[in-house]
Amino acid sequence: MFIRNAWYIAAWADEVKDVPLGRKLLGENVVLFRDVHGRAAALEDRCCHRGAPLRFGAVTEQGLQCGYHGLVFDCAGSCVHIPGQDRIPGKAKVKSFPLVEKDQFLWIWMGAAKDADPSLIVDYPYHNDLEHWPHKHTMYHVKAGYQLMVDNLMDLTHLAYVHKSTIGGQSATAHVEAKTQVTPNEGGLHFVRWLLNSDPPPTYVKAVGMQGKIDRWMDFEYIAPGSIRQWTGALNVGCGAQENRNQVGGFSLRVFRGPLVFSAITGGTQTQHWRGGGVGRSLILLAFLFTSQTGIVASH
Ligand code: FES
Ligand SMILES: [Fe+2]
Repeated sequence: MFIRNAWYIAAWADEVKDVPLGRKLLGENVVLFRDVHGRAAALEDRCCHRGAPLRFGAVTEQGLQCGYHGLVFDCAGSCVHIPGQDRIPGKAKVKSFPLVEKDQFLWIWMGAAKDADPSLIVDYPYHNDLEHWPHKHTMYHVKAGYQLMVDNLMDLTHLAYVHKSTIGGQSATAHVEAKTQVTPNEGGLHFVRWLLNSDPPPTYVKAVGMQGKIDRWMDFEYIAPGSIRQWTGALNVGCGAQENRNQVGGFSLRVFRGPLVFSAITGGTQTQHWRGGGVGRSLILLAFLFTSQTGIVASH
């Protein structure tokens, strides 16, 4: 069972170029392609003629051409060309899905098309700010259900134990005593935890050489069904981190985890944004897409 009336990430925008890309999403075979004008589209990956997978076709001037007998479909799934005949039957059409390119993702809506409101798509503008957040990305598979990833990420009490030698740090007490503010938001939940006057964890020391006591924050925002925006970081005590986290110096990490859901144990993509600049300032922006409907364990 999937929540169908929701936006899911179908692919990184740059995964879809001039060659069709087949992908199973929410249990359905979908083909993604760009027409000659650069517009991305998503169709059912099954030709309405004899059922050939359209991912084996090619993009032509008029649209996506089936690789079996040459029917061509536009971005809306309508057949616009049949080799050898002038008449195109009205029912010569394949199902299309609303698709929006935003923040370097292709977001797909696989529920009722009339309800596909692009304003509901999660914002992640950092992807577009190449000056401050240059990045590269890749894809990897996680053998876990995306629900388990949400569960894991929205419960950071594991940091002191699972991540003791990296982002957890040495003091479990600091995590236990973290001041946490939780607020419901539109379609999810938002929390901010503060580890005040604490020791920098090993990763922060290694990344930017943090020394002395720090005020550290963990800001996580869940937006159903599977997006999580994360902003974690630290500034030295006395810098006024609680009033203003956006300062030069310290450590700052942004992570986006988005809903890309296949039908089985599955995969995801990852992007990394690095920024150096300012005195002792190091910003890291990561975007992970952890995925799948089914799975046994959550991975770290
Ligand atoms: S199966 Fe696609 S054109 Fe025949
Ligand atoms: Fe973890």
